[in-house]
Amino acid sequence: MAPTAAAAVAARSMRTFLIMGCPGSGKGTLSKRIANTFNVKTLSSGDILRHHIQQGTELGKRVTATLASGGLVDDAIMVDLMHHELIDHVHGGHVLLDGFPRTVGQARDLAEFLPKVKRRLDAVVSLDVPEEVILDRIDGRWIHAPSGRTYNMSFNPPKVPGCDDITGEPLTKRPDDTREVFGERLRQYHAITEPLLEYYRETGLLQVHTGSTSNELFPKIKAGLEPLF
Ligand code: AP5
Ligand code: MG
Repeated sequence: MAPTAAAAVAARSMRTFLIMGCPGSGKGTLSKRIANTFNVKTLSSGDILRHHIQQGTELGKRVTATLASGGLVDDAIMVDLMHHELIDHVHGGHVLLDGFPRTVGQARDLAEFLPKVKRRLDAVVSLDVPEEVILDRIDGRWIHAPSGRTYNMSFNPPKVPGCDDITGEPLTKRPDDTREVFGERLRQYHAITEPLLEYYRETGLLQVHTGSTSNELFPKIKAGLEPLF
């Protein structure tokens, strides 16, 4: 195969996507469906941070209070963390980033970093879900902290109440899933993360999908991503 054709095939085999949307919009839930459908590895910045907190690492200790209050972790910490994740845990193949970038500064950093790992951004999926349906979901959310698997008591309950489907381990509530902290996370999203949509709209990569349920949203997401595979 000619070198340019080989490079084109290699580039095609390494798609890089982002999923954005306000807290509770279903990023984690829909990421799982995207991952299963397109064989994509998902990196969720929130899950990675919660894993550090659970393991009691130095990084975990530094970010515990920020997550508990619903604030955003410093850009410098986040870009360093996600660079390492992309280098250490992604060896070729497609990647979906959930929760990163979340500020224009993080987005600019990602744009500079991706070419260094021979990637480029292929699409940004943004979930537009009415806020009134989201608060109820958060009340019903339970997670398996070690894996990040998410359940909802009314929408996708675990097979055995209170236990993870795969490991059987106990489910827990996220400490930032109180109504008060959730309000702060929403505020941060509107003030700091929402402006990123304009940034990505200008790149021509933004795909916004509106809907209230995953069954309504997923076919739209699938149709938007399919041409890239
Ligand atoms: P992160 O973990 O990213 O939280 P988030 O953006 O607030 O989003 P969530 O995980 O709460 O919601 P989701 O959209 O994934 O929804 P889910 O699928 O679970 O970040 C947490 C914290 O980490 C931040 O506050 C910040 O401090 C820090 N952080 C992370 N990244 C950072 C960064 N880049 N920079 C700085 N700080 C950073 O769905 C929600 C619930 O709804 C679930 O129970 C689910 O089962 C249910 N559900 C989903 N879809 C449906 C449906 N269709 N119908 C009914 N229920 C549904
Ligand atoms: Mg999530």
